[in-house]
Amino acid sequence: MDYKKRSTSSSKSTSKLQREENPWILGSPEMDNSCRSSSLPILCFLFFLFFNLLILCFQDGMNTVLVISTSWENSDFNSTHGLFRTQITTSHEARAVAVSENSTQKTPTIINEVGNLSEVQVLEKGLARARAAIRAVASNRTRNASSSPFINTVDIYRNAAAFHQSYLEMERRFKVFVYEEGEPPLVHDGPCKSIYSSEGRFINELEFGETVFRTMDPQQAHVYFLPFSVTKMVTYIYDPKTRNRSTLHSFISDYIHVVSSKYGFWNRSQGADHFMLSCHDWAPWASETSSQLYNNSIRVLCNANTSEGFDPRKDVSLPEINLIGGHISQKLLTALPEAYPRSFLVFFAGGVHGPIRPILLQHWKDKGDNDIRVYEYLPKGLDYYSFMLQSKFCLCPSGYEVASPRIVEAIHAECVPVIISDYYVLPFSDVFRWEKFSVEVSVVDIPRLKEILSSISEEEYRMLKEGVRAVKMHFMLNQPPKRFDMFHMILHSIWLRRLNVRLQ
Ligand SMILES: *[C@@H]1O[C@H](CO)[C@@H](O)[C@H](O)[C@H]1NC(C)=O
Ligand SMILES: *[C@@H]1O[C@H](CO)[C@@H](O)[C@H](O)[C@H]1NC(C)=O
Ligand SMILES: *[C@@H]1O[C@H](CO)[C@@H](O)[C@H](O)[C@H]1NC(C)=O
Ligand SMILES: *[C@@H]1O[C@H](CO)[C@@H](O)[C@H](O)[C@H]1NC(C)=O
Ligand SMILES: *[C@@H]1O[C@H](CO)[C@@H](O)[C@H](O)[C@H]1NC(C)=O
Ligand SMILES: *[C@@H]1O[C@H](CO)[C@@H](O)[C@H](O)[C@H]1NC(C)=O
Ligand SMILES: *[C@@H]1O[C@H](CO)[C@@H](O)[C@H](O)[C@H]1NC(C)=O
Ligand SMILES: *[C@@H]1O[C@H](CO)[C@@H](O)[C@H](O)[C@H]1NC(C)=O
Ligand SMILES: *[C@@H]1O[C@H](CO)[C@@H](O)[C@H](O)[C@H]1NC(C)=O
Repeated sequence: MDYKKRSTSSSKSTSKLQREENPWILGSPEMDNSCRSSSLPILCFLFFLFFNLLILCFQDGMNTVLVISTSWENSDFNSTHGLFRTQITTSHEARAVAVSENSTQKTPTIINEVGNLSEVQVLEKGLARARAAIRAVASNRTRNASSSPFINTVDIYRNAAAFHQSYLEMERRFKVFVYEEGEPPLVHDGPCKSIYSSEGRFINELEFGETVFRTMDPQQAHVYFLPFSVTKMVTYIYDPKTRNRSTLHSFISDYIHVVSSKYGFWNRSQGADHFMLSCHDWAPWASETSSQLYNNSIRVLCNANTSEGFDPRKDVSLPEINLIGGHISQKLLTALPEAYPRSFLVFFAGGVHGPIRPILLQHWKDKGDNDIRVYEYLPKGLDYYSFMLQSKFCLCPSGYEVASPRIVEAIHAECVPVIISDYYVLPFSDVFRWEKFSVEVSVVDIPRLKEILSSISEEEYRMLKEGVRAVKMHFMLNQPPKRFDMFHMILHSIWLRRLNVRLQ
């Protein structure tokens, strides 16, 4: 039952971990502080923020709400209309969570009464109020958008008023419990550099940041976070020599076994109010080890490929971001003048990865067309970000996996993203109308790329670019996080998925 022992013994089976023995403490090159904004990791304790409920935002009538709106149309949320065909019931096994008195936990997480219905009922009552408040705002056609904080000439939101209300409800109520079991580097840590850094940044922000969304009392939580890092598992317990990935499966099922034996929360919801988060390509595969994790839990994934079982109703698409050296390039962050000259029609540079890029490069690389800047590798002396800043459109084709860090980079550079992917569920598409700030080109239309982009009028382009400027704040990665930024948008997506579940 001792989780520490489990993780050590499973780690020992690979040579890799032994080489990198306990890098967290020894400060090996793998360890970096890029995840932390301040040197002190502070465990946060709770504040309840009381937001002024009178802050209302208005919106002209709009039918489309968030993606799951059909479930919200009933006056009382009815879980048979929700996403889970099976009714989720609370177990009454109070004994089940008895934790040994010699628990190594730092904080008192001993739970005596998971079966205490009133606790769950209190939570569910709060969620029911939140759903009702969001629904009321969403369906009010007489509302006037002028008091919404999201006034833009381009309406990038499916329903700005509903989103705002949902966000306020989240701020008032939403609480996340993070399991303490397990040890870094596989758990409670993640990469904060390079292309998988969305994973490490989120884990670290939630665990060591000062977010008010975390609760130390699991009884108060709406969702439970399984804070393991698939990317770290690939680094430490996957042996590239044998290419045997089964250690990842064992680790994850062990982890779930430990938390579901020790606490009652997993069994209570069959995992439906639990979430994992990973940016690694293999994360969808790794989650297959548990059918409850795969089929019930909220999986927050960069690899949001519907062909690999990503379910947009319960899973969350995580933006991918490439933090070279742990930071967003200063070039991208410098505010651009509105009329920054964009001399190229379209830009792309990247390796021939995955199924789509070979087609793209075959048609557009080295074609001697000055408008179309498509490179495999940028020639020496040319700068990637400068190209983004000087182009009207930036191509974001899928690589080995559906997500591309170029989408976020393009938004930062105010270059209109051109999404070329199959089966990709775009991040936050429950909130945004992506068509207002990006262009989608299907794979079969790659040969017509220039024709398609050239046919976008100046006026249409101006609107798209304004949309990009409006959505930028939601893709910023601040340290510490700010309201409505990427960290909070990810949380908000999880919050929306939790609203789809009702515990009874
Ligand atoms: C949910 O809605 C369905 C269809 O409207 C209805 O038959 C059922 O009784 C409702 N269930 C609950 C728990 O309200
Ligand atoms: C807890 O620790 C005490 C003293 O170290 C030991 O006697 C006891 O058996 C332990 N209990 C359990 C359940 O491990
Ligand atoms: C639930 O917990 C509360 C607070 O801990 C307690 O007052 C109440 O009696 C419990 N209810 C039941 C049914 O055990
Ligand atoms: C709709 O919004 C308007 C303006 O805020 C408000 O006066 C009205 O009461 C709302 N209607 C409903 C049904 O909530
Ligand atoms: C919204 O309210 C403002 C001022 O309160 C008013 O000028 C405007 O015409 C209203 N718009 C609509 C669509 O009702
Ligand atoms: C992978 O490793 C596991 C245990 O280490 C073993 O049971 C399994 O047979 C291996 N699979 C392959 C394909 O070698
Ligand atoms: C949860 O269910 C599993 C499998 O059914 C069981 O082994 C475990 O003891 C249960 N956990 C609790 C806390 O009851
Ligand atoms: C998910 O559920 C479906 C239908 O019940 C089942 O066929 C499938 O095997 C499950 N997936 C996993 C990974 O267990
Ligand atoms: C998405 O999943 C399908 C099915 O596994 C696969 O064929 C396709 O290559 C994936 N897309 C990407 C970009 O990885």
